[in-house]
Amino acid sequence: MRMYDLILKKRNGHELTKEEIEFFVDGYTKGNIPDYQVSALLMAIYFQKMNKRETSDLTMAMVNSGDILDLSAIEGIKVDKHSTGGVGDTTTLVLGPMVAALGVPVAKMSGRGLGHTGGTIDKLEAFKGFSVEMPQDKFIKNVNSIKLALVGQTGDLAPADKKLYALRDVTTTVDNVSLIASSIMSKKIAAGADAIVLDVKVGDGAFMKTPEDAKILATEMVEIGKHIGRNTVAIISDMDQPLGLAIGNALEVEEAIKTLKGEGPEDLVELCLELGSNMVVLAKKANTVKEAKEMLKETIKSGSALNKLKEFIAAQGGDIECIDDTSKFPKAKHIIPVISEKSGKVSKIHSENIGIIAMELGAGRATKESIIDQAVGIILNKKRGNEVAVGDIIAYVHANDLEKGNKAVKDILANYEIVEGYENNIPLIYDIVR
Ligand code: URA
Ligand code: CA
Repeated sequence: MRMYDLILKKRNGHELTKEEIEFFVDGYTKGNIPDYQVSALLMAIYFQKMNKRETSDLTMAMVNSGDILDLSAIEGIKVDKHSTGGVGDTTTLVLGPMVAALGVPVAKMSGRGLGHTGGTIDKLEAFKGFSVEMPQDKFIKNVNSIKLALVGQTGDLAPADKKLYALRDVTTTVDNVSLIASSIMSKKIAAGADAIVLDVKVGDGAFMKTPEDAKILATEMVEIGKHIGRNTVAIISDMDQPLGLAIGNALEVEEAIKTLKGEGPEDLVELCLELGSNMVVLAKKANTVKEAKEMLKETIKSGSALNKLKEFIAAQGGDIECIDDTSKFPKAKHIIPVISEKSGKVSKIHSENIGIIAMELGAGRATKESIIDQAVGIILNKKRGNEVAVGDIIAYVHANDLEKGNKAVKDILANYEIVEGYENNIPLIYDIVR
């Protein structure tokens, strides 16, 4: 088989066979096919697209390019949740304990944040002593006994995706639906998921800028799942403003704790119930989404989800005292109010820029080497649709460096749109694809 022929075939709009897809994925992973030929093929795929069969074959070829986690020793149906990336997205911290409290095994492998989106591990490290380093047998044991454990990236999962993603990044071939869908699904499958709930974000802070594009991506991923025997549900949700009120590590953990105590912001609660209920149904712990939602609400009322969080944090070495007393979390030196100079209604909060502002305060990483400041971030006080008068506080900046804090105040003001006569008609949840 020659790479030249594959490029020509795809360039001319024909379908690649399973063997041809395996040939280029395997050859590229091993370093036998040069970047320039794979770049040309990616560009041909970008323009000519892949059909569902090709996309599934590409997904499986990437899964098989490296290690596949064997989580078969975990009892029950392992459902993984994946978000395509958001700002202030605290759902994992809330959902994990809620669904685990219902007996759904959550064996989560998580990453650190880069750029304007945060990573779950960074957030959890706000708990003093919390560690994601553990041998696989302990990970499995914890999931079986507590139903919830979280480890950092282990093994060499989907190395083909790592190489291809880096190449796509510099050849303007990231935003092709088949390439994104296979990239995301390959990592979930290699990480041992039996079933997958996807949170496909749409809007300013997201990959997909319109609900139509998000639906196409969601449908593609659900169909890959069907094709390879992993039940998949995709929720299309709004990222045209940050989720919840907190952006920043310890601040988001506090927000998650509040939510588990029944005092969470409305949008975060609603999205968690939607994602969580689908996880519970896929894990066969409830028959309908409606029934699952009631069960999840009960885990908050009864305190069982909050207890589950404590069990999970303690089992991984974290200090759980701050769950009962959140004043024990790391705190920023300066809390600076952001005061509105306009009146009207909030019509937009530019999520991506808000994420970048939080990162510049020290809540995220500009580069892989950056060190996270757990305490800093932003608390929103006004969200889309809220009335604002001149002099009202629209947000609070939590900063350890006064100069950075004052800059953040200015930047936040510039990223809030406040107009007269705005009617909020953007839903939190656009659609659900099964
Ligand atoms: N996230 C991924 O993991 N892969 C993509 O291609 C895009 C977003
Ligand atoms: Ca949040």
